[in-house]
Amino acid sequence: MKKVVLAYSGGLDTSCAVQWLKDKGYEVICFIADLGQGEDFEAIEKRALIGGASKVYIKDLRAEFVEDFIFPSLKAGAVYEGKYLLATALGRPLIAKYLVEVAHKEKAAAIAHGCTGKGNDQVRFEVTSRILDPKLEIIAPVRIWEFKSREEEIEYAKAKRIPIDVTKKKSYSLDKNLWGVSIESGILEDPWIEPPEDCYQWTNSADEAPDKPAYVEIEFEKGVPKKINGKTYDALKLIDKLCNLGSEHGIGRSDMIENRLVGIKSREIYEAPAGTILHIAHRELEALVLDRETCHYKETVALKYAQLIYYGLWYSKLRIALDKFIEETQKTVSGTVRLKLYKGNCAVAGRKSPHSLYREELATYTAKDKFDQRLSEGFIRIFGMPFER
Ligand code: ARG
Repeated sequence: MKKVVLAYSGGLDTSCAVQWLKDKGYEVICFIADLGQGEDFEAIEKRALIGGASKVYIKDLRAEFVEDFIFPSLKAGAVYEGKYLLATALGRPLIAKYLVEVAHKEKAAAIAHGCTGKGNDQVRFEVTSRILDPKLEIIAPVRIWEFKSREEEIEYAKAKRIPIDVTKKKSYSLDKNLWGVSIESGILEDPWIEPPEDCYQWTNSADEAPDKPAYVEIEFEKGVPKKINGKTYDALKLIDKLCNLGSEHGIGRSDMIENRLVGIKSREIYEAPAGTILHIAHRELEALVLDRETCHYKETVALKYAQLIYYGLWYSKLRIALDKFIEETQKTVSGTVRLKLYKGNCAVAGRKSPHSLYREELATYTAKDKFDQRLSEGFIRIFGMPFER
């Protein structure tokens, strides 16, 4: 029997996919990735086995996710279309990497995923798999199976005695990991309708947030956050703390119309409290320590880097090459940023760094001024000369 390794979440689609692949003559091995989505993995494993998987792998990928995917994207300043911190998009190549690894270990002929044919995630899984091993077959049951609706899937599951959880009513499609939540479909498909409060999974609304602001200091070393309020935390704990604090103060919500890779515009809601705080802090620190040209050039790199992540091209040459550039720029991105969190807003309140390029004696308008203003006359004449008529 041919083996297939399926990226399994325990939801309706992947639960049906196990049985559907078996119907097609495959032995199904389920791979469950822990990216900090905070689920009951034992229950999911049980469901996979009862549902017909011959074997289940559960892998805690949180540390690798943060060190090798999230922090590089933070250092890059990667934000898609100005609003999306790419939580889902960053997780996919990592899951795909392990699908391929497990496929090799199990001598499986194929990998499979539960994505639809309309989204970005199918692209991310498949492009990654093909970069890492073009010989592996890829199966996307949801794209080709006969079920036309959720109801038909539920019927199939009942008929085949597949354990599914249909108790909670499903108003939205969610994808969660430690960097953020992606929320779509249901009533959100009308871009004119304000997202109902019940779509948000983590964050308070500004109304519910405390009436008193919270100040938080974040210390970075070479572009990586290390301390909160003077205390060192490991990366996972640090993100977790900022996630809780940000959620309390209503930080990190976004509502956007986004351009998908497959050509569709879609309405997406995101929550990324820790990511929002860290991106703001990191950008402030860069403003203090990077020279003007590096700052400006890095903005164009950030744009491209975000696209590459969004398009599933994490393992492309270009992304890896851009990383080298970004690493070089981060050598002096060390220092502390103080932020004020208040009712959905995250504002910088102060910044300092031993590598600061800010010179008070040049900026000041007081008697301490060391800037020779007479030099500006010649500078301006020459600077503007090419444009005079
Ligand atoms: N649109 C986002 C992306 O392409 C999120 C998709 C996540 N899936 C979901 N079921 N909400 O990365």
